[in-house]
This record gives sequence, C-alpha cells and structure tokens, in this order.
Amino acid sequence: MRILKAACVAFVVILGIAFAIRQPQLRANAAEGISIGVSVADRDGHLHVPDDYRTTYQLLGSWAIAAEDAHGSKEFHVVYASPGVIDAYRRDKRFPAGAVLIKEVFKASTSEMTTGTVSRADALKGWFVMVKDSGNSHPGSALWGDGWGWSWFDAGDRSKTTTTDYRAQCLACHVPARASDWVYVDGYPPLKH
Ligand code: HEC
Repeated sequence: MRILKAACVAFVVILGIAFAIRQPQLRANAAEGISIGVSVADRDGHLHVPDDYRTTYQLLGSWAIAAEDAHGSKEFHVVYASPGVIDAYRRDKRFPAGAVLIKEVFKASTSEMTTGTVSRADALKGWFVMVKDSGNSHPGSALWGDGWGWSWFDAGDRSKTTTTDYRAQCLACHVPARASDWVYVDGYPPLKH
C-alpha cells in the first residue's frame, strides 16, 4: 500500500515537471501562431536569424541594386522563406501564420567574366527578418505590427537586432507593397504558379 502511494506521488510529480517544462513552449507557439517552420521569435518577441536557414529554407528570389556609375550592381539581396511557405502561399494566396522571410544583404562586386559584366554577392552586410503574425501577439512592441514582426541584424550579430521602431525603420519603405501584405511578391517567381 505504501509503495503504491509513493508511486502515485512520484507519478504526479513527474507529470507536473513535464507540464511545467512544456508550458512556456506551448504558450510561445500559441502567441506566435507558429504553424510553419521553427519559431525565430522568443516569448518576448525578440527575433533572431536562424543558424540553418540556408539549408532548411526555400529560395524566393533575389534583387540587384544598380551601382551609381551604372557599372554592374552595388548590392545584392537574396530572399528565403521558411519551409512550407511557398506551398501555403500558392494554395491560399497569403502568407501563413508563422511564415518567416529572410533577406540577406550583400555588398556586390563586379568583374568582367566570360558571360559579360557580372556582379556577384561579396561581403554579407546583414539580414532583414519578417515573421508573419496574424494574431497581433505583441501589441506593446515597437517591432511588431501590421501583421508582422520586423527586425534588421548586422552581419556580426544574428541574435540582437538594431531595429528600434518598425514603423519608422521598415514600414514606410514597404508601403508600395502594402496590397501584397507589405511583401514585394513580384520579385519571387516561386510564389507564382
Ligand atoms: C529603403 C527602403 C527599405 C527599408 C528601410 C526597409 N525595406 Fe525591406 N525591402 C525594401 C524593398 C524595396 C524590398 C524588395 C527589393 C529589394 O530587396 O531591394 C524589401 C524586401 C524586404 C524583405 C524580403 C521580403 C519582401 O518584403 O519582399 C524583407 C524580409 C524585408 N524587406 C524586411 C525589412 C525590415 C524588417 C525592415 C526594417 C528593419 C526593412 N525591410 C526596411 C525596402 C526597404
């Protein structure tokens, strides 16, 4: 009888511990509405650049910014989406909750190659990250709103953003893409069927 009682107590304690460990994760997922990929936001809404996006994410497209002297490009942008986003977008014509978009910004270097005057990605300057937030999870944060979490990361630090206010530092520049949920979808062939 005493052994049974002890076993019952032990069972309840273990259940309690398991629940306590699981709880913050569940809450974080609910807050972010994460259904796609692994969260890039912690519970307080701080974003980071995931380590493995170059092998686990899918390529959306790239942009070249012309050099002032019109000789090749000065910057090169490569945009990735978290796993499953492309399929979901093709199906529903919108970005699913938890969708992560990462834009790499490279300094471009230009040289004459056998194909012509060619610019290629050189030093990485940093990353822009957007994460789709359908539920307005962080109403008090200056880095969340208009359906997304927003942050820039310098190449040296992928876990601490330098962005302080998305409205001033991101949104104004994304107004031309407002009708497509603030994303410049025209540049991403995989989103078109
Ligand atoms: C100077 C204007 C400008 C600013 C400031 C800006 N963006 Fe953008 N962003 C753009 C343009 C234009 C594109 C697409 C073309 C390109 O990359 O040059 C883009 C593309 C992106 C993309 C790729 C997905 C998409 O929307 O097409 C992400 C992610 C992104 N921006 C996030 C951010 C975040 C986060 C901030 C603020 C920290 C920010 N941007 C600030 C103009 C801007």
